[in-house]
Amino acid sequence: MSLHGFRAELLSVPEDPAQGGGVRHHPDGLLVVEDGLVVAFGDHADLAPRFADVAVERIDGLIVPGFVDCHVHYPQTDRIAAHGAQLLEWLERHIFPAEAAFADRTHADGVAAFFLDELLRNGTTSALVFATVHAQSVDALFEAALARNMRIVSGKVLMDLGPDTLRDDVASGRADTEALIARWRGRGRLGYAVTPRFALTSSDAQLAGAGDLVAAHPDILMHTHLAENMGEVAAVAARFTSARDYLDVYDRFGLVGPRSVFAHCIHMDDPAMARMAGAGAGIAFCPTSNFFLGSGLFDLARAHACGVKTGIGTDVGAGTSFSLLSTLGEAYKVSQLCGDRLDPFHALYLATAGGAQVLGLGDRIGGLQPGQEADFIVLDTSATPLMARRTAGASLHDRLFALQVLGDDRAVARTYVAGVLAWARRT
Ligand code: GUN
Ligand code: ZN
Repeated sequence: MSLHGFRAELLSVPEDPAQGGGVRHHPDGLLVVEDGLVVAFGDHADLAPRFADVAVERIDGLIVPGFVDCHVHYPQTDRIAAHGAQLLEWLERHIFPAEAAFADRTHADGVAAFFLDELLRNGTTSALVFATVHAQSVDALFEAALARNMRIVSGKVLMDLGPDTLRDDVASGRADTEALIARWRGRGRLGYAVTPRFALTSSDAQLAGAGDLVAAHPDILMHTHLAENMGEVAAVAARFTSARDYLDVYDRFGLVGPRSVFAHCIHMDDPAMARMAGAGAGIAFCPTSNFFLGSGLFDLARAHACGVKTGIGTDVGAGTSFSLLSTLGEAYKVSQLCGDRLDPFHALYLATAGGAQVLGLGDRIGGLQPGQEADFIVLDTSATPLMARRTAGASLHDRLFALQVLGDDRAVARTYVAGVLAWARRT
């Protein structure tokens, strides 16, 4: 592919603004892409002479990096908005039956295709994704992601203490995981995550085996749930009586390290947060899910003060939207309830470069820095009459905050994956 330029308003927050990282904003900017990578990102007036021979497309809208969803379940797509239960009952009533259907590869293929198209429509170009216990559920997702050239990290769910219809065993869980890693390593933009569902659905032997897998493969992640719901936390404490807390359960099995991503982390004390920070582990903050299941309020400012890297997860099907914009709007409301006020630039960081850090991909995606992969989206701050009215003549801060509070899939005009148009809103 030859050089290609995009002239538009550009915005990127490649480093944590709360730690002094700068906001890169170019009202009349030029983004230059070659072979799927960013070559330049800056003021059009500065860059135009250097790229005088390059074909430049004018884009109406605000270009930002593609969103990174740090925690989402593709097999739960068809169970979003399932009424009437908190976590453990919701899993039994709604989720386990839905996941059992993924024993059928054709069903998995259909849901995977819809799911990935829905991510693109919402401006999400990278995600850390739960599959099901079935190895072919991962094959279905990875094949569909490969066809779309998306940066997707996933893994077969380990759950030897799951319900009868949805259970592996220590040996098959390990063998399937090893086979999937070998089958998919190095293909496209895919990555693997060893994925024990949570402490309650794996035996001690399976958790120990998961730790062995993580240690044996330095290029993979570990992805699980932690301290989401009070009933779950109590059940973990009742089973693991000698553990200091829930985090310590995972720690004992070698599952807490710089490549670990834990969804939720609501019911944790400061020493546990400090241990997460010391280990370099990351958190996926999933506000719509935490509201929907009545799980609790994640204290983002506390996690930040403790130095734990944090990204944003939609956590569909407990989450109620695939839109990272909607999710950031709910994150703001959670922060208010915790006595804080999530800043819109920090919010954009969390949904892009911050999420990339959590997934260990900070050098490749999330900031549109030269040399990084050219995943980006075009946002429309006038997507609805109300948004147009609220953002007319407003500052960048206020336009970004309006996107966060009022925006959703309607505000995503286009999605580019590795410099190529992958989805465009019909006008
Ligand atoms: N904990 C264990 N499994 C799940 C799940 O599928 N969704 C959520 N939100 N929490 C979990
Ligand atoms: Zn989840």
